[in-house]
Amino acid sequence: CDEIQGLLKEKDKLEKDISNTTNQNNQLNEEKKQLLAQFLDGWKCNQSSLYYISSDTKNWAESREDCLNRGADLIIINNREEQESFKTNAEFWIGLNDSDVEGTWKWVDGSTLTSGFWASGQPNMGKEENCAVLNPLGWYGYPCDNVFKWICE
Ligand SMILES: *[C@@H]1O[C@H](CO)[C@@H](O)[C@H](O)[C@H]1NC(C)=O
Ligand SMILES: *[C@@H]1O[C@H](CO)[C@@H](O)[C@H](O)[C@H]1NC(C)=O
Ligand SMILES: *[C@@H]1O[C@H](CO)[C@@H](O)[C@H](O)[C@H]1NC(C)=O
Repeated sequence: CDEIQGLLKEKDKLEKDISNTTNQNNQLNEEKKQLLAQFLDGWKCNQSSLYYISSDTKNWAESREDCLNRGADLIIINNREEQESFKTNAEFWIGLNDSDVEGTWKWVDGSTLTSGFWASGQPNMGKEENCAVLNPLGWYGYPCDNVFKWICE
């Protein structure tokens, strides 16, 4: 988080400085600014965690792949506070599925879910709804090859 806030400050500073430097520096700074903007685009910093919120939609496995490529993984929701902070109007894949053993929900770090924030009536047992989506009402099981946005942590 501190690192990202540092980078955001640097980006602001570069934006201010940019009109005031020589052409050569200007170009370098402009490139740096664009790289930083690209790198930071979509990331949010919260307390001790960094989240990437996608604007694309993909299936569960591809969403996870994207997170891994960003040096992260799909989000693991540890507490109510974290759950509440994503009560937006969109739906997102989270790092939870029961595709190995029906009814045993596992996080991407290998841990087994003990209690969660399921929406009422969820998860649906016995259906091919093995991957979890965060929705404003709680979590829902969906077929893993459906496409949603996703959150990396
Ligand atoms: C712009 O450059 C001048 C002279 O090089 C310097 O005195 C001034 O502080 C600079 N302004 C900013 C906003 O960096
Ligand atoms: C960050 O955390 C605060 C308090 O837990 C919460 O209100 C806020 O919505 C969170 N934001 C994000 C992007 O997670
Ligand atoms: C479910 O998650 C595990 C990792 O926790 C992964 O190996 C597995 O491929 C996932 N299932 C599907 C259908 O993507």
